[in-house]
Amino acid sequence: MKQRKILVIHGPNLNMLGKREPEIYGTTTLEDINKGLSEKAIKLGCSVDTFQSNHEGDIVEKIQDTKGKYDSIIINPAAYTHTSVAIRDALLLLDIPVIEIHLSNIYKREPFRHKSMLADVVSGQISGFGANSYFLALDAISELISKPSQD
Ligand code: DQA
Repeated sequence: MKQRKILVIHGPNLNMLGKREPEIYGTTTLEDINKGLSEKAIKLGCSVDTFQSNHEGDIVEKIQDTKGKYDSIIINPAAYTHTSVAIRDALLLLDIPVIEIHLSNIYKREPFRHKSMLADVVSGQISGFGANSYFLALDAISELISKPSQD
């Protein structure tokens, strides 16, 4: 079987992980997360590319560009979770599984974070497990894409 390719997209301010509000987001850096994802992917028999941007349009273009190149996406849209119709619309162009993740539990935080513009267009959401949210998503996605579609 062809090796499965997963794209992990990190939204705005996630390049500051480690320094950014560590009491909420922890002390693990984005570099550590990306390294951990690549290592875990090898064990799961898939490969991971990572992308971070602070710009909504760049994220939209990256999603558009995945067509035919990736088997699934893990996305932490960060603040764009709560605002971006553009990222939602870009995901609707795809026919691959997408998992939305958050380090913090967005439902335990300020009311404006309780609404995700993506939640109803993704395969599933993982929220509140710190950096581990990414690794749980990788487990979930690798299981999803190794099985024939159930839909
Ligand atoms: C976040 C939660 C968002 O509300 C916030 O704007 C972020 C990070 C998380 O991973 O917990 O930047 O997506």
